[in-house]
Amino acid sequence: MGAGIAQVAAQAGHATVLVDVNVEQLQKAQAGIEKVLARLVEKGTKTEAEKNDILGRLTYASNIADFAGCGMVIEAIVEKLEVKHSVFKEMETVVSADCILASNTSSLSIASIGSVLKNPSRIVGIHFFNPAPLMPLVEIIPAVQTSEEVLSTAKAIIDSWEKKTVVCKDTPGFIVNRVARPFYGEALRIYEEGVADFATIDWAMTHIGKFRMGPFTLMDYIGNDINYTVTETVFEAFYYDPRFKPSFTQKRHAEAGFLGRKTGRGYYNYAAGAVLPEPVKDEVLGRQIFERIIVMLINEAFDALFLNIASRNDIDLAMTNGVNYVKIVIARMYCCAEWSKEELKLKECLIFDA
Ligand SMILES: NC(=O)c1ccc[n+]([C@@H]2O[C@H](COP(=O)([O-])OP(=O)(O)OC[C@H]3O[C@@H](n4cnc5c(N)ncnc54)[C@H](O)[C@@H]3O)[C@@H](O)[C@H]2O)c1
Repeated sequence: MGAGIAQVAAQAGHATVLVDVNVEQLQKAQAGIEKVLARLVEKGTKTEAEKNDILGRLTYASNIADFAGCGMVIEAIVEKLEVKHSVFKEMETVVSADCILASNTSSLSIASIGSVLKNPSRIVGIHFFNPAPLMPLVEIIPAVQTSEEVLSTAKAIIDSWEKKTVVCKDTPGFIVNRVARPFYGEALRIYEEGVADFATIDWAMTHIGKFRMGPFTLMDYIGNDINYTVTETVFEAFYYDPRFKPSFTQKRHAEAGFLGRKTGRGYYNYAAGAVLPEPVKDEVLGRQIFERIIVMLINEAFDALFLNIASRNDIDLAMTNGVNYVKIVIARMYCCAEWSKEELKLKECLIFDA
């Protein structure tokens, strides 16, 4: 993530320092950025001169002392609070008094990260999506300690990087990783209840729901180990709210090493010559599956709105730009809450035709 964020900052015209304690990782990051920019030149998106300018703005270092002189630092190191604490403490001794200190954490609270700073009002969450150069959404998360000035400056900087920013409360999963949980959780429940198999659930969500990818295909992309860990973390962070309960099916897949595409087997078999299972293309069943999942997503979106996690507009922006939820789904989320049953029946058809 750090390499992608550094590339975005350098592309936006900033002199950028990428620091990593691991020199190999640093070399990998440099080679990766150079390769991506070379490809952009080949495609005609960037000129050779632009590429050289961007590369000229990037420096690579393995010492935090090299952050001296930076106006903003975005931390994207290992997701362990104690490691982040020691890095933030050290950074504060190096940077200027008005340097913004940001974290790209996905699951830790910004308040807890900033608690070790002498000036905690300079902490803010700046959460990119992977891959950072391609994904337009960035969640900006003020902690209880964050000053108004730090929040508005951080937001203005990221807006100037041609990203779509949304502001959200410092709560587990922020917007996207909170609202999207039932896409996996409810799909796994439907499977565990014996309602349908993986392929049929995926078919229902792509064919009827118009999602770009079904939940099991998506979990196989993300990796069952990663997705399961995030689910466990969110469950714990929400004080074991049963809505976020992890699934034994996913746990067993992760334990068996059926991690998804990266191991050649997940919910599906990706070995050469393996044939993907055919879904049961039953429209009535498909609609039931789709409605169960969509209703859970609607609940989460509304819970986030109700608890002022973010504005309605920002939740909408986050779900369309962070996870590419189709507009139709967002429209259905809102119409369900605002329209009477009769109106809903009428308008539902219109939305489906839109
Ligand atoms: N991977 C994602 O999809 C994603 C998305 C959004 C946010 N995030 C967040 O970004 C952060 C990084 O995630 P990642 O997937 O890029 O992790 P990663 O393990 O791929 O990279 C972390 C890097 O930090 C370096 N590092 C570790 N300790 C360090 C230290 N003390 N000083 C300097 N460098 C150090 C490591 O050498 C490594 O190169 C995490 O907080 C994660 O939650 C990740």
